[in-house]
Amino acid sequence: VKDFNEKVVVVTGAASGIGRALAGAFAARGARLVLADVHDEALERAATELREGGAEVLAVRTDVARQDEVDALAEAALETYGAVHVVCNNAGVFAGGQSWEMPLEDYRWVLDVNVWGVIHGVRTFVPVLLAQDCDTHIVNTASMAAVISAPLVAAYNMSKHAVLALSESLYHELTMQGARVGVSTLCPEAIATGLAGCESHRPAALARQAPPSAGAELADAALRDALTDGLDPAVIAERVIAAIEDNRFYILSEDGWRESCNVRLDDIRLGRNPTFSVPADAGGTKAAS
Ligand SMILES: NC(=O)c1ccc[n+]([C@@H]2O[C@H](COP(=O)([O-])OP(=O)(O)OC[C@H]3O[C@@H](n4cnc5c(N)ncnc54)[C@H](O)[C@@H]3O)[C@@H](O)[C@H]2O)c1
Repeated sequence: VKDFNEKVVVVTGAASGIGRALAGAFAARGARLVLADVHDEALERAATELREGGAEVLAVRTDVARQDEVDALAEAALETYGAVHVVCNNAGVFAGGQSWEMPLEDYRWVLDVNVWGVIHGVRTFVPVLLAQDCDTHIVNTASMAAVISAPLVAAYNMSKHAVLALSESLYHELTMQGARVGVSTLCPEAIATGLAGCESHRPAALARQAPPSAGAELADAALRDALTDGLDPAVIAERVIAAIEDNRFYILSEDGWRESCNVRLDDIRLGRNPTFSVPADAGGTKAAS
């Protein structure tokens, strides 16, 4: 997709952070927006701001962890605009701690949103994109945690590795059938967003049954620190737009995390035990978020 004017763009996790920045960047190019988020008030706020800026916006309260809600999102988009051209499966949450101590609720929540949310997005929207037979694109948000497995972040790392693997398979499948559906995977470094406050989006059914462990607190503090120094999400949104325009799959961090990624790949290639390698400016305990 080269031109976003009047194209219909769906963004999940659109009420905050990277999703909100993506919505702004697409709106600035004349796209018609479909914004999805589990946080109704923030979603309405984002929709109002974007409408005030002149954008056409449909806001649909959606929990991406539920296939029926993602199906309803697609139906609403098609009913309103008659087409979907770009889908950003971006909603995500974070919980950390030692892998053997993390409560099952934390694993479930992170995997429900970060992995199942993207699975639902792919299952629902790819058939819609294929049926349209025009140039379309799907962007799945992973992280540098998709290629590096830092300590204290096992569930998040697993979730992001899964998003990257799903996206790579999807890319091959669509390429093999000559589909006009591009795929990109967003793997950002630390970005200044609301991710460290994501506990407030946790569903009651997966509420923590005990206070956070010392490991969870350390992981949360490291995330908070990393995000405080993080990049402006608007920078990431521009990277995403450029990747869609160029039909480029990997949207990688541009800092030292790439070198850490090389170290990891060398560990695998050479059969070495895993090296704990994070960029010098990320600090010893900081995890890729
Ligand atoms: N911030 C970073 O440093 C960073 C780095 C790499 C990857 N990411 C990824 O970027 C994506 C966006 O996160 P962000 O950093 O902008 O955080 P954020 O918390 O600012 O935004 C995430 C949005 O997702 C929404 N959300 C949470 N659960 C949801 C659900 N079940 N259904 C629908 N919406 C839901 C939240 O309400 C929020 O508006 C996530 O997938 C995250 O893992 C973030």
